[in-house]
Amino acid sequence: MTVKPVQGKHVMGKPVMGENVPDRHVADGPVMDAQVMEGHAMPVPISIFVAVARNGVIGRDGDMPWRLSTDLKRFKAMTLGKPMVVGRKTLDSFGGKPLPGRPHVVVTRQTDFVVEGADVAGSLAEAIERAQAIASQTGAAEIGILGGGQIYSQAMALADRLYVTHVETDIADGDTVFPQIDAAVFEKIDEITVPAGEKDSYPTRFATYHRRHAAN
Ligand SMILES: NC(=O)c1ccc[n+]([C@@H]2O[C@H](COP(=O)([O-])OP(=O)(O)OC[C@H]3O[C@@H](n4cnc5c(N)ncnc54)[C@H](OP(=O)(O)O)[C@@H]3O)[C@@H](O)[C@H]2O)c1
Repeated sequence: MTVKPVQGKHVMGKPVMGENVPDRHVADGPVMDAQVMEGHAMPVPISIFVAVARNGVIGRDGDMPWRLSTDLKRFKAMTLGKPMVVGRKTLDSFGGKPLPGRPHVVVTRQTDFVVEGADVAGSLAEAIERAQAIASQTGAAEIGILGGGQIYSQAMALADRLYVTHVETDIADGDTVFPQIDAAVFEKIDEITVPAGEKDSYPTRFATYHRRHAAN
């Protein structure tokens, strides 16, 4: 099999995708030079972006139960230009419109769902497949899963990386939660403490987790 380097792309891993394809995870560590195998782009890492309270809460009444301006700025810088996969209810929480500067794929079971400026997929697997295709066209280095609760719980089995903003509070009346992060599956590779700025409801810790790999 011929492997041709491609300028300007950063991809690695195994070809994917489909609901029944096991173990499609790409390797940890820095994303390596792009390679295209026999003309087929390799999948890029799948990364979950989430802000989660100490007690696991991520949402309340269709919105986030905090204001975290510092985190939003960092989230924007990390995600601009990358394909984003988002549940229909989270799209609603964005005002029904995709976030600017990032191609979106919205996951919904509604067969007639249309949203201006975004793709629509009927399952998470289909959405990730579409996002991978966008990444291979644009050279994006990863795809982002933006939630919400339903989408995160399905995406944990597929994610290579978790970018988690740990929010230093308990939200007693939340209605949407993030799954427990299993330390046997995901290794925390870095963490920084972020004091609450003027426009932040709480202090946070920003942590990155990478999927562990089975020993050979
Ligand atoms: N803290 C954070 O970082 C964060 C991030 C994102 C969201 N949130 C919060 O999370 C809450 C929303 O989360 P949620 O769990 O209620 O909703 P969600 O995950 O955003 O969206 C759920 C919807 O996605 C579609 N869906 C889910 N699984 C599907 C599948 N397998 N195939 C096809 N479609 C599927 C369905 O859409 P249809 O009903 O249209 O079929 C479903 O109603 C909000 O409060 C939001 O603010 C928090």
